[in-house]
Amino acid sequence: MNEYDIIIVGSGAAGLTAAIALADHCKVLVLAKGELTGGSTAWAQGGIAAVLDAGDTFENHIEDTMIAGAGLNRRETVEFVVENAPHAILRLVEMGVPFNKDSDALHLTREGGHSHRRIVHVDDATGWAVQAALLKTAEAHPNIILLPGQACIDLITGRHEQRYSGSGRVWGVYALDEKSGKVHAHVGRATILASGGAGRVYQFSTAPRGATGDGIAMAWRAGCRVSNMEMMQFHPTCLYNLDVKNFLITEAVRGEGGLLKHPVTGHRYMPDYDARAELAPRDVVARANDDQIKRSGLDFVHLDISHLDPDFVVGHFPNIYEKLLTLGIDMTKQPIPVVPAQHYTCGGILIDLDGRTDLPGLYAAGECTESGLHGANRLASNSLLECFVFGEAAAKHILKCWDQLEPPPAIRPWDASRVTDSDEEVVIKQNWTEIRRFMWNYVGIVRTTKRLERAQHRIQMMTHEVEDYYGHFRVTTDLIELRNLLQCAELIVRSALHRKESRGLHYTLDYPDLLPKAVDTVLVP
Ligand code: FAD
Ligand code: SIN
Repeated sequence: MNEYDIIIVGSGAAGLTAAIALADHCKVLVLAKGELTGGSTAWAQGGIAAVLDAGDTFENHIEDTMIAGAGLNRRETVEFVVENAPHAILRLVEMGVPFNKDSDALHLTREGGHSHRRIVHVDDATGWAVQAALLKTAEAHPNIILLPGQACIDLITGRHEQRYSGSGRVWGVYALDEKSGKVHAHVGRATILASGGAGRVYQFSTAPRGATGDGIAMAWRAGCRVSNMEMMQFHPTCLYNLDVKNFLITEAVRGEGGLLKHPVTGHRYMPDYDARAELAPRDVVARANDDQIKRSGLDFVHLDISHLDPDFVVGHFPNIYEKLLTLGIDMTKQPIPVVPAQHYTCGGILIDLDGRTDLPGLYAAGECTESGLHGANRLASNSLLECFVFGEAAAKHILKCWDQLEPPPAIRPWDASRVTDSDEEVVIKQNWTEIRRFMWNYVGIVRTTKRLERAQHRIQMMTHEVEDYYGHFRVTTDLIELRNLLQCAELIVRSALHRKESRGLHYTLDYPDLLPKAVDTVLVP
């Protein structure tokens, strides 16, 4: 048993923000699956939303967030996050994030759903700069221990105490050391889940390989409620390429003037769907792209910014420009083929404004949570912001309650006495592929009850097989992820079947209308 003060699962924007905010007061262990830069944070392109322009107001940002979220947002959360945004940006500047500037002020770009320019960015690779600055700060702090290569399996609760208490109190995690294959118990007075989203539950996703909803599934199994899991966000413009499957073309390309066009007729179709055209919120644009593709039997649509000055395009999107050139596409001269792909998990572990979950000793922050900020559809560039605000909020609450957080009791070691090495790895690969395919086909951008029921039926059959496998064989990262993917798929489908309306990202042909009252889909374990 390895004891620290605080255990944090995840080394992305949410986990490292919390670690840095705690470290002057206590010893923090940060665990990451694979590499420390393996989460979505490092992949973020567009930027971070904050009211920094003289002509903009908090009220504008709040309204834009509520409109994109189709009224399902919790207003007090939206206010809390929006009002804390300028402070979060200041902290990042102090940590050395080299945001682009326009003379002395930060340069603000624009994205869909925003009524003003309010996105601070580092070229078109904001996430990489943010991840690097947070890591550098964390590495320099003597109280932060960063431990990559640890795949957390489950939360440690009262059930795992040497003297069984049956309480829901969370003491840490059991984690597989990916190198040695051994499982260790890491314990502390409080645990923060900052484990990112579940995007990889879909066949096509912009999210990294490890976005398998581990934290959401672990919290659910331990007894936390999850909320709005049907609200899966699809980004309208993922590059269509047979070799490079998940390269995002940032929404800022549309923000700076990029147009969506039918690849055969050249018709600019977004004004036919929404008065805000290419700058409508993401759910609207993703559905329009999907509709064009299905209606005309296309493989992709075109995103065209070649009408703008080439120096402007290269200056604003240097990384995307370079990447596309390696694939034979010159975005200053020709349109980019794009398709919608899963991008962000709006639902997750239910938390309050202090980042507290339902279980004592367990906090959560970032994409694995449902804080009330995004509602039925996340506004672009509000996600990194949520990570900073809630990472810090959870840390503050832990420090405020420090005296009431008792040290962990003796915990039972992981029991691997009844499992053997697998002789049927094929089961894992088969199930991974199958889940991601039927989720894409049956639980995608446009849904029907019949398709959701088909998906539910498959999940029921697979759950039996996966649990049987899990009970007999030694854990591996692939097996841990498969079990969590399946759990998340089940939560998504159950939530989608529960919602008898079309709101935001949940669009079903069987209930195309909006109900008068916005109600969260809260699942209780
Ligand atoms: P992540 O950064 O995903 O980190 C998760 C961490 O948890 C990782 O360290 C991972 O190793 C760890 N982890 C997961 N499971 C386990 C486990 N079982 N055991 C141990 N560790 C585990 N948002 C914006 O606001 N602006 C943008 O411009 C933007 N662009 C994006 C572009 C792309 C391509 C993508 C995919 C997302 C983008 N987003 C953007 C969304 C945003 O990047 C994410 O929502 C955000 O970075 C999530 O941060 P996080 O800290 O919650 O999780
Ligand atoms: C993008 O750059 O389009 C992604 C922004 C986001 O996901 O918030």
